[in-house]
Amino acid sequence: MELDSWQQSPLAEEFPYANVVRYVRSVGKHFLATPVVEALVRARAAGTGAAGDDTARDHLRRFLSVVLDKHDGTYDYTTYTALDLLRPRQAPPLQEFEDEVGTRIAFLLYDALAFESGAALGHRSQLPCMRPSPEVVEKRLRHGLRVAVEMDMLSGKPLTPKVSGLQERFDQLTEVIETAPSGMASRLDQTLMPVYVIHDEYLFIRVLQSFESIFECLARLASEAIRRLEARDAEEALRSLSAISRVLSGGLPLFSLLATMQRESFEFFRKFTEGASAIQSVNYKTFEALCGTPAPERVESPAFRSVPQVRGRVLESMTTVRGAADALIASRAHEPDVGARLAREMAQIEAVHQRWKRTHYRLAVRMIGSVSGTGYTEGTPYLRSVIDNRLFRRAEETTH
Ligand code: HEM
Repeated sequence: MELDSWQQSPLAEEFPYANVVRYVRSVGKHFLATPVVEALVRARAAGTGAAGDDTARDHLRRFLSVVLDKHDGTYDYTTYTALDLLRPRQAPPLQEFEDEVGTRIAFLLYDALAFESGAALGHRSQLPCMRPSPEVVEKRLRHGLRVAVEMDMLSGKPLTPKVSGLQERFDQLTEVIETAPSGMASRLDQTLMPVYVIHDEYLFIRVLQSFESIFECLARLASEAIRRLEARDAEEALRSLSAISRVLSGGLPLFSLLATMQRESFEFFRKFTEGASAIQSVNYKTFEALCGTPAPERVESPAFRSVPQVRGRVLESMTTVRGAADALIASRAHEPDVGARLAREMAQIEAVHQRWKRTHYRLAVRMIGSVSGTGYTEGTPYLRSVIDNRLFRRAEETTH
């Protein structure tokens, strides 16, 4: 009824976003009632001609693409994690981008932890099924706060002190969320649309979004490293490469947080996430392809076939960190130790990436054992096989 009344004189800015999100969370995206889907489809049609500025209309269009992905047949990892609504509309310059990503991850986690503590205290009624035990909640808060506080670039790390109990922690988290940068509150609200109503999916989505923000940052840093290498600015290139290791290793504890997910809960809601897998992550594969040229077998495998836009760029041949570093070294237009320092930074990134892949593999084994992946691979055997790949492969090399 609210959607239909909005359509009487549609104004993009006044779309009932919060109530649509509330409804989606009350049943899960997989179970939207047909009359609601029909009303949303009508609202989308009305939205194209809605009054308001282009940005507001564009935001409404992207929001409805996320809500209606299952109906539209476009459901995948990007719509599941609502990435188009999570990124800031205008990407800030690189210098500010790292801070933006850190702050974004901190708030994604503060929000997840407010949900965890709020649900345990009975202050949250959404996603009510299969609530975790108090011990698990305690563990989540510990792991989650460790990463969030480390990533937080804005709120002056107010969450480190010990608290007397769950209520105080909840109050603290609610307070810090209220101080979120402008636009963050609605971004947080609109980017959590689970497929079902099982408690742990909240954490799962927030962790995926946090990692995805990290991958986005890595891809930008790798592009910047290439640009600096091509400009023969080795010092700045080295700085970007070192930032890649720092950002990626800063995210590793997110796996400990996700490891607190209850296996049975995951098993239940992943029935409805079929077709959405991080194998479709454009940022992860862009980062990989910017580091070095992937082996032809990998380009032909589900790894790159799941991200056709990145695969297309690889096939057209992309400039890579490896290629740009080799060219700089061959030019001899650098200080004598630059070759060794570049090699060290690349080895460092490789080592952190290996840790990322091994930890991911172990977590996947624990959560799904030997069942197939939601991205249509055989599952953990696929993940085992990709561990041997190397990031900084030269185009002419015959190994992985
Ligand atoms: C319960 C936790 C997780 C399980 C069981 C899991 C499982 C899997 C599986 C089976 C695949 C192979 C593709 C497929 O068929 O789906 C995969 C790929 C992938 N996952 Fe996860 N995953 C988990 C968490 C995560 C998280 C938190 C991230 C971070 C965004 C992530 C990132 C990736 C990436 C980037 C790939 C592609 C790897 C490649 O193609 O080399 N996964 N995962």
